[in-house]
Amino acid sequence: MGSISIKTAEDIAGMRVAGRLAAEVLDYIEPFIKPGVTTEELDRLCHDYMVNVQDSIPAPLNYCPPGYTPYPKATCISLNDIVCHGIPGDKVLKNGDVLNIDITVIKNGYHGDTSRMFAVGEPSILARRLSEITFECMWLGISKIKPGAHLGDIGHVIQQHAEKAGYSVVREFCGHGIGKVFHEEPQVLHYGRPGTLEELKAGMIFTVEPMINSGRREIRAMGDGWTIKTKDRSLSAQWEHTVLVTETGFEVLTVSPGMRPAPAIAQVPAPSATA
Ligand code: MF3
Ligand code: CO
Ligand code: CO
Repeated sequence: MGSISIKTAEDIAGMRVAGRLAAEVLDYIEPFIKPGVTTEELDRLCHDYMVNVQDSIPAPLNYCPPGYTPYPKATCISLNDIVCHGIPGDKVLKNGDVLNIDITVIKNGYHGDTSRMFAVGEPSILARRLSEITFECMWLGISKIKPGAHLGDIGHVIQQHAEKAGYSVVREFCGHGIGKVFHEEPQVLHYGRPGTLEELKAGMIFTVEPMINSGRREIRAMGDGWTIKTKDRSLSAQWEHTVLVTETGFEVLTVSPGMRPAPAIAQVPAPSATA
């Protein structure tokens, strides 16, 4: 306890830059997501944009937490029933596929981490609804963030919204503190009870990144050491932002011109032109 770092003004400035760059990679890649492209080609485009245009470092490449093998690519691309950590490869995108692209950049030593859902052509009604509910889950969680709130408040609202829609929350993976380190304390569970777990304080930075399954919550790990799928082969969706706890509430750091604004259900004030 008490080991959640409080970022300095200098850290926060660095995290704003890294967050914006991560979001801008997603803006950049969106037009390339079409039938016929492989996930490896999308990864290569993102890699080259980070390295050659942004002068940022793709954090996933060779990332190797304890017990893992080094991650072989610059991005995670998780298609259809892949929950997270999909490794880009020779898979060809086809009409109706839905995918999450998860980008983490390092800029001047700071990490920015964000992911969005995309559809190839026309997704099914189910896939579209799952993505929308998951987007709402992320924003409902973010909307709870302010000093004095608890991590359990975030998890609770996400779980409520997902389960009310008939979906389930993945338990094995969670949001995380982030800064000069990719994954640090706290763990941000996407389920839980209000008023439980760590109290939020201004200057904390962490991600909110719910993984929501259309079927059961259980997962299975693939033999590549990274890819996680739903056990029942149901669809899974995820959205992610990196967020700062401010004196009055929160500031989303992974912002870009192409990001989707908060949904009405989250009752987040629209950013003002003077902010
Ligand atoms: N970006 C993921 C997250 O949101 C982590 C990916 S780790 C990797 O925490 F090695 F698979 F890239
Ligand atoms: Co993350
Ligand atoms: Co991520």
